[in-house]
Amino acid sequence: MAMIKASNIFKSFGNKAVLKGLNLEVNAGETVVILGRSGVGKSVLLKLIIGLDKPDSGTIDVNGICLSALSGAKLYRALGRMGMLFQGSALFDSLSVAENTSFYLDQHGDVETGKAMKKEDVERRVAEALAMVGLEGTQKMAPSSLSGGMRKRAALARLICYRPTILLYDEPTTGLDPITAGQIDQLIIKTQTELQATSLVVTHDMKSALTVGDRLALHHEGQIVLIAKKEEFVKSDHPMVRSFLENAKVTL
Ligand SMILES: Nc1ncnc2c1ncn2[C@@H]1O[C@H](COP(=O)(O)OP(=O)(O)O)[C@@H](O)[C@H]1O
Ligand SMILES: [Mg+2]
Repeated sequence: MAMIKASNIFKSFGNKAVLKGLNLEVNAGETVVILGRSGVGKSVLLKLIIGLDKPDSGTIDVNGICLSALSGAKLYRALGRMGMLFQGSALFDSLSVAENTSFYLDQHGDVETGKAMKKEDVERRVAEALAMVGLEGTQKMAPSSLSGGMRKRAALARLICYRPTILLYDEPTTGLDPITAGQIDQLIIKTQTELQATSLVVTHDMKSALTVGDRLALHHEGQIVLIAKKEEFVKSDHPMVRSFLENAKVTL
């Protein structure tokens, strides 16, 4: 079953057409990776899926609910189980690591009941989430005192803490050294397994794509030109896919 379904999406900014009839389906429980050159509209697509912006035309369905028709509280509820790791982590520098981690829980309460959680339950969830990303004991630290890799992990802890079942990741490994990038990839896989989630990962890191993805998609000139199981994707003779893979310079 399609957990995320984007159908015939068009999106322009001024006279610049970014998405031009894009179609994408992500099935429940799988991880799809979207590859594509910088500036093709990968972040724009994620923002449309998480409801931060609306397409000019076309529809986005999440778990069978069409988002285009919704606004306000109804949209908010429909998106309740979706979480996104933004490019650049986007931690709140005025809050501690613990306050950052519990941010969505404090805002929304328990994702299942919608009720506010008890302080000790929140503290336990924060400790669990930080332990999962290898940041145990950092609760009182300020985000500004963390390294780039630690900030990325703290942002992931904030996401995990809320226990979303649909996860969107925008360039999760960009700007990280290869070892830290590899750790983030392993955390994405672990999160996927433990939350039994559906994940959509945007990246131009081919190594990361092959590590975390079940299916890979190539975003080119406003459309998904190929989506296939990773083993088939790397063997595809589609000219755009060949050109992308040759530029990515990874040993497959
Ligand atoms: N809010 C916006 N206003 C105007 N142009 C935008 C906006 N958001 C994105 N764009 C443009 O859309 C194109 C795709 O951007 P983006 O999705 O960020 O690319 P990427 O694939 O690198 O994530 C870029 O040319 C960008 O300048
Ligand atoms: Mg982007």
